[in-house]
Amino acid sequence: MKIKTAFFCQNCGYESAKWAGKCPSCEQWNTFVEEKVQKDIPLRNTSWQPEKENGKSNNIVHLSAVSAVEEDRLLTPDAELNRVLGGGIVPGSLVLVGGEPGIGKSTLFLQNALQLKDITTLYISGEESAQQVKMRADRLQVKNDHFFLLTETSTQTIFQEIKKLRPQLVIVDSIQTLQSPFIESAPGSVSQIRETTAEMQRFAKESHTPVFLIGHITKDGSIAGPKILEHMVDTVLQFEGDQHYAYRILRTIKNRFGSTAELGIYEMTGQGLRQVTNPSEILISQREDQLSGVAIAATIEGMRPMLVEVQALVTQSVYGTPQRTATGFDLRRLQLLLAVLEKRGGFHFGVKDVFLNIAGGIRVEDPSIDLAVLCALLSSYEDIPVSSKICFAGEVGLSGEIRAVNRIEQRIAEAEKLGFEKIFISRYNKKGADFGKFNIEIVPVGRVEEVYRGLF
Ligand code: TYD
Ligand code: MG
Repeated sequence: MKIKTAFFCQNCGYESAKWAGKCPSCEQWNTFVEEKVQKDIPLRNTSWQPEKENGKSNNIVHLSAVSAVEEDRLLTPDAELNRVLGGGIVPGSLVLVGGEPGIGKSTLFLQNALQLKDITTLYISGEESAQQVKMRADRLQVKNDHFFLLTETSTQTIFQEIKKLRPQLVIVDSIQTLQSPFIESAPGSVSQIRETTAEMQRFAKESHTPVFLIGHITKDGSIAGPKILEHMVDTVLQFEGDQHYAYRILRTIKNRFGSTAELGIYEMTGQGLRQVTNPSEILISQREDQLSGVAIAATIEGMRPMLVEVQALVTQSVYGTPQRTATGFDLRRLQLLLAVLEKRGGFHFGVKDVFLNIAGGIRVEDPSIDLAVLCALLSSYEDIPVSSKICFAGEVGLSGEIRAVNRIEQRIAEAEKLGFEKIFISRYNKKGADFGKFNIEIVPVGRVEEVYRGLF
């Protein structure tokens, strides 16, 4: 039989009979790769349940006849994981966990599976040998009699083993190593990933077993292979962080069973990942003497208030073109803030090198960090420290106005809880709000100049 091939865009999964330089779907260049496909197997069944058990099929039902009682979620001992999943693991859900290699995905799920002592867990490892997993488990120092390991990549064999063991939770590490006998192309290719995920999805839905799929992320940050995966699964989590720092963030990208605004924070230690319950304390460096160029922002990441330290260094430029470097903060946003300071405040950053860093190696997306960035820049520019008892929450507009941010009370409450004495917020946040209950001093500011005068 002649083997059929097709071209797949490695970015979005678009299928084409001919090679093309540019993908018509996602408009990326040079993403087409030829893969073998097998389409004409008669009566193709999946590896999971080749024969329909008990002859039942999914017939049309009246919506009112469907019971809407939410099934009990499975609570893991890890409060951060429960939270990002929207309150525990939903039975029959398919969860994709993405992250760069080495970030700690295998550690996180091995650790969680080992801590779930009452249920039977099957950990399918296609990347590491049984010895390697065992060594890691020893390092984590948790023992569990209901934890089973399978080093296998063929979905056919995997489903045979699953039928024997009947696990209550399945973890696949990683989806890129799985191989379905119905598809000819290599593991990790778009058509393989699509097929094996579909098989896992059918298994999860029909057996009501939750399945976690671990997936690697490509350089540009998307889950390797394909966006197509993201809509096949119920929940997409992303595990991120800077490899050189110990802190890791587990973020919800999509969740059919909960909010996508959730976030879990971990610290990588010698014995696996530790949950960080009070992130603010670790993100602010403890120091006695006050240094210039440091300002604290009262941000909200996900649903949680978090105080984050912003560090700036402004120096006389030695080269013709001044340098701008930002870690954990959008570089274009930094350039914008510098332009605002230049134009509205009359500061001459044009002849200075500017370096900006968010402490702890985390990335902050919340625009309320602007005001702290601005103050850190000014503090370094003037070489005058900002008191470590002051924090900031405000977005900066193009005309130099300090704009209101959401959930201001939560931010103020967190700052007060951590012992700050003063918080600078936007004047527009003050309107109609009652801050009488706070003991912390609240300084409303409307423009960049007012901030400057209030600080120095
Ligand atoms: P790993 O879970 O293998 O990452 P991934 O599956 O995302 O590729 O974790 C990799 C790193 O974590 C590795 O560099 C070693 C480190 N690590 C610790 O620091 N402490 C530990 O207890 C464990 C198990 C791993
Ligand atoms: Mg791994």
